[in-house]
Amino acid sequence: MNTWGMVKTFVLGGATLLFFFIIWIYNPFSPHEEYPLPAQAEEIIKDPRSALEGRELFKQYCTSCHSLRYDGIYLSSVAAKPEWSKIEKSQGKPILEKRDGKLHIKGYFVPRDVYEAVAFQELESLKATFGKIPPDLSTYYLARGPGYLYQFILEPDKILPGTSMPKLFMPEFDKEAPQKVAKIVGYMRSVSEPSPEEKAKRTLMGMLTIGYFVIMGFLLWIYRKRLINRMNL
Ligand code: HEC
Repeated sequence: MNTWGMVKTFVLGGATLLFFFIIWIYNPFSPHEEYPLPAQAEEIIKDPRSALEGRELFKQYCTSCHSLRYDGIYLSSVAAKPEWSKIEKSQGKPILEKRDGKLHIKGYFVPRDVYEAVAFQELESLKATFGKIPPDLSTYYLARGPGYLYQFILEPDKILPGTSMPKLFMPEFDKEAPQKVAKIVGYMRSVSEPSPEEKAKRTLMGMLTIGYFVIMGFLLWIYRKRLINRMNL
């Protein structure tokens, strides 16, 4: 290989490495922590066991205003309607969960248009009270990150001045409040992140795809050499 070829190889190779470093390791498009998270809260959020408890806490504290449709959680006022369970079953898709080695239906994913049609009155009355419809929280973990959510839920007005979301937790009176909030955030994380088995499957697929390209690239390189030799270039 001549000098020019070496320079080209290094520049292109370097650019490729930089590209993958940027999209996988240092991603400037993903939210970078501006909202610090206490170490204890971080531990709870990362613990997969907190998701189950967090789901119950979410139902208890948040469903008077928020839904989380990706996990089959709807406004409590809508879920209490007598026709709702029929609509869920006929229009929704079951959300399965593995418990004790068996699959259970933990809820139904109902398409947004169907849900909003059924919940029209409830959503309108929330809008009348709070000035806007409290958002569905299915994707908020991805959009805002754990630090923001943890701090916002503990003190909404401090993070989003003028917000109409009320402060629901009082650490001054309830010592468990920070843990409860961390469990809720842990639950929101579990909804937006794939399960460990799914993650392992995706990693394997990624490795196989990259392996395929590396092998094909190598074979092409050998083929190219042979062609060049044959043409006596
Ligand atoms: C009494 C009604 C009410 C309850 C209960 C409630 N929220 Fe909210 N929430 C709101 C409203 C209203 C907004 C919209 C606020 C805004 O945009 O200013 C909001 C917004 C949010 C947002 C979005 C903030 C942003 O950055 O845009 C998150 C996240 C959130 N709530 C989480 C929760 C969680 C978690 C709970 C349960 C622990 C909860 N909320 C309970 C009314 C409520």
